[in-house]
Amino acid sequence: MGRLLRTGLNAGTDAPRVVGGKGAYFHLSDGRRVLDGSNTGGPLGHGHPRMAEALRKAADLPMVSEGWNWEGRDQAAEDLFDIALAGEESWAGAVRFCLSGSEANDIALSLSQALTGRKAIATRERAYHGLVGLSRDVTVQPHWHGGLAAPDGGTKRPPAGAPVHVLPAPEGALYRSHAEAAGCPAAPLAQRLDGAAAMLRDSAAVIVDYTQGGFYHDGAYQDAVAAIARREGAFWIADEVVTGIGRAGRGFAFQGGSSRPDLVTLGKGLGGGTTPVAAIVLSKDLAKALDGKSWQNYGTLRGHPVSMAAVSAYLRIVRDEALLPRVQALEGLYARRLVEIARRHPSVSRVAGQGLHWTIELHGPDWRQWLADTQEAPIASRVAGRALEAGAVIGTSGEQTSLFLAPPLIISDAESEQLLDILDHSLELADREHNAMMERVN
Ligand SMILES: Cc1ncc(COP(=O)(O)O)c(C=O)c1O
Repeated sequence: MGRLLRTGLNAGTDAPRVVGGKGAYFHLSDGRRVLDGSNTGGPLGHGHPRMAEALRKAADLPMVSEGWNWEGRDQAAEDLFDIALAGEESWAGAVRFCLSGSEANDIALSLSQALTGRKAIATRERAYHGLVGLSRDVTVQPHWHGGLAAPDGGTKRPPAGAPVHVLPAPEGALYRSHAEAAGCPAAPLAQRLDGAAAMLRDSAAVIVDYTQGGFYHDGAYQDAVAAIARREGAFWIADEVVTGIGRAGRGFAFQGGSSRPDLVTLGKGLGGGTTPVAAIVLSKDLAKALDGKSWQNYGTLRGHPVSMAAVSAYLRIVRDEALLPRVQALEGLYARRLVEIARRHPSVSRVAGQGLHWTIELHGPDWRQWLADTQEAPIASRVAGRALEAGAVIGTSGEQTSLFLAPPLIISDAESEQLLDILDHSLELADREHNAMMERVN
């Protein structure tokens, strides 16, 4: 046993060791350069010169805890509103910074509980919102529970802190195989959300994200859930930890619907991938509801000067390098090529995505039948292993049949084509197994 405790969700103890990185590439200890194809925390790739310069300057700043005023924190808030929330002035009210997406979601949910006096919270099927406190409670995916898991399927989850309601997931795949479409026909939205009002009647908030489980933006779904939440007195939280300020190809994924959230959570790339930093944006109404009350919530390292310098630098790079239009342009390339790839690979059951976040789901066991560290690696992990041999890090979502692409927003067209070629090549392994299985069944 080594001194460093590892998660059961990384690529195993023989995972390659990263020794450096530049642009869209990782440098490995075996001397190879591999494309960084699935890294939601690294929107600018590695070693972006302007980020590096901002951090070098920030190294001289004093240590100031969240309890003290710090002008760089006010500046980061101003930059967030001026750059990322431009056009959203009619509803966006105030921001608070914290350390991780998990923490941001826990804070948003606990604030909702404090304001409504309700205990229950709600999410949607196959969601992941984090691994602390209430964010862990609203995590539905079976492999992210913060407890202990065994290869025979046994799991010891920590008990939940709040009752959780689970709404049906949105729809909206770009590609579904015939078998997948026949097995799960899409029901009309009103029918799917039939029980939602009863669930939200006693909920403090409903939290919705835009990538997890391979479910992306669906404006009609968002607007319907938002309307039900409002009617039933529950807040609506947009979890934009993955999608906010870049990856969706617009400021926020929720901008694809007409409703606007009560709270938005941000994280992952908010500091350009260089520091752990996250945020909770409150609507004007919610910010007003805090008037005259002191929000008893504090963290020593929240709003740290280095993180605030990173947030300001990242936001300005997104603006100055016109990264949102760049991601929109790349979205077309990924959509076109992924559908074309899926049509040629019988192992692919579903493709969905937005901007620079794409899920490729393979035929295989249902996501609910997840098993921990099995003797034979799951099919998605084996495809990822083949991709690594071929020169790209393509991640699994932790599920057995699900791969995702989330390259840096600065990736070039040629690098994107190379990443997609490697995926195409790696899927041949899944096809062979899928075809052999189909022959056994028929
Ligand atoms: C949608 C979503 N919300 C929240 C989180 C949690 O963020 P963090 O890992 O920074 O705690 C994640 C992480 O993958 C996520 O995908």
